[in-house]
Amino acid sequence: MPLRSGRHFLQIPGPTNVPDRILRAIDNPTMDHRGPDFGRMTQEIMEGLKYVFQTEHPVIVYPASGTGAWEAALVNLLSPGDRVLMFEHGHFALMWKKLATKLGLDIDFVPGDWRRAVAPEEVEARLAEDRDHRIKAVCVVHNETSTGVTARIPQIRAAIDKAGHPALFLVDTISSLASIDYRHDAWGVDVTVAGSQKGLMLPPGLSFNAVSEKALKASRSAKLPRSYWDWEEMLEINAKGYFPYTPATNLLYGLREALSMLREEGLVNVFARHAIHAEATRRAVRAWDLEILCQDPAEYSGSLTAVLLPDGYDADAFRKVVLDGFDMSLGNGLSKLAGKVFRIGHLGDFNDLMLAGTLAGVEMGLKRAAIPHRTGGVQKALDYLADPTAAPAEEEDIRQSMAS
Ligand SMILES: Cc1ncc(COP(=O)(O)O)c(C=O)c1O
Repeated sequence: MPLRSGRHFLQIPGPTNVPDRILRAIDNPTMDHRGPDFGRMTQEIMEGLKYVFQTEHPVIVYPASGTGAWEAALVNLLSPGDRVLMFEHGHFALMWKKLATKLGLDIDFVPGDWRRAVAPEEVEARLAEDRDHRIKAVCVVHNETSTGVTARIPQIRAAIDKAGHPALFLVDTISSLASIDYRHDAWGVDVTVAGSQKGLMLPPGLSFNAVSEKALKASRSAKLPRSYWDWEEMLEINAKGYFPYTPATNLLYGLREALSMLREEGLVNVFARHAIHAEATRRAVRAWDLEILCQDPAEYSGSLTAVLLPDGYDADAFRKVVLDGFDMSLGNGLSKLAGKVFRIGHLGDFNDLMLAGTLAGVEMGLKRAAIPHRTGGVQKALDYLADPTAAPAEEEDIRQSMAS
């Protein structure tokens, strides 16, 4: 391959672009993880994590990918044979279910069509039927990265409460944390699972469990075997600024920098920026006359958009045209969506001009791959980005017409 000039566009929905400030922070000599400077850094990180997860409770950091944090949440809370309510939103919901099944849990898996998230009413109905409270936990993927569908977590919390059910509430925020509004405490979540490689703008390799009081209490009687993932030992040693094993020191330098950047921008502004980029992307997709996979505007994702190609056109062949021609990586379709959709990641360290470049790459790719479409998607997005407040609210119209 000859050298390609300019920056590669990494527009998959994670891992995302790592900002230079974070790369510079990671590129520092590894320090003694039992020394005083490390202890101070851990305390600083723990405070910053509370801000991002919007919690007063502890957040545990693992040197692991998101899958590790999924497992950690389950093994700390549950006992063999415990019943868990899960929902088929998409590929990652399926993977979490597979992991839970391997751990010996009994999964009540509610089928779904991958174009909508679970309806809060469905959660309420399932829990109301469970009169002897056999269900011990409800697991929801907040933002399904394979589909670009975002579940309504506060409404699901309200549904659990309405059913008067004591189940623990576990939420995967791997592709929503620090991109889409999320509040661990206010939304009554017991364990929030997250990862480093998306909204946190870090490379892959760290993952998180934010843990409520109720979850901590449940962990004391949970019987699934655990050692590496055990919260108790971790929390005891974290309180002094250290870890029970060798931590990923250089990724923690990066995490400290990422948390500073999120504070400097302010979470509210971070969420607003993502929402604007998501809306601009959807305007482009509609103008191209292509279909957004997510069917309910109330569940559109702020961090990625999955786009369906017309029947008979291969989304992977299209992505190859874009990669070869314009040096941009787009997300592929996963599991049953393979070859049918491509995903545009618009999360993390991202701005208007990066989005404009991304959409230009897609529009040029559509033309070069001879995918039937209308031109003008980029222009639609630019018009919106130029003044988001002045643009007529396309989605509101759609929502209202659906409701009427
Ligand atoms: C929503 C969601 N959950 C879980 C995972 C699994 O995380 P990892 O691949 O970091 O193990 C991913 C990965 O992209 C994800 O997007």
